[in-house]
Amino acid sequence: MIKPDGVVRSKIGEIASRFENKGLKIVALKMMKVSREKAEKHYAVHKGKPFYDSLLNYITSGPLVAMIIEGNNCIEIVRKLVGATNGAKAEPGTIRGDFSTGIDFNLIHASDSEESAKYEIPIFFDEKEILSYERADKEWL
Ligand code: CMP
Repeated sequence: MIKPDGVVRSKIGEIASRFENKGLKIVALKMMKVSREKAEKHYAVHKGKPFYDSLLNYITSGPLVAMIIEGNNCIEIVRKLVGATNGAKAEPGTIRGDFSTGIDFNLIHASDSEESAKYEIPIFFDEKEILSYERADKEWL
């Protein structure tokens, strides 16, 4: 998910291209403004934490871009490309390491396991919005 700061900072193309360039495949993508209800469901694990309310305000503040990405070792690779949660600690070369200076606005969220992807995807997508195609360079990836 490219969060509202990634959208208003015009980083949609830059961020999506990092996943494409690595060899992963975007199989669903849409821009939306999420309701409080969806945001609460998505971040249910953080309920009760000190940053929960500001996180919900942030994520509902403007349009975001939700994506479903597939590929070899997808979750591990995406987490690496995204970088540590806190942009100040994230390695240069990662998305957060290159564009975020802290933990409050870190441009992107990525599912941290297959289990969380299975929980998060239906919050944002219907089954029919997930498309099937082959990358032309599939054999090399
Ligand atoms: P994300 O990967 O989307 O998961 C939860 C989000 O909460 C996180 O990125 C940050 O945007 C935000 N956040 C704010 N403060 C904290 C914190 N102290 N620890 C973890 N996440 C935080």
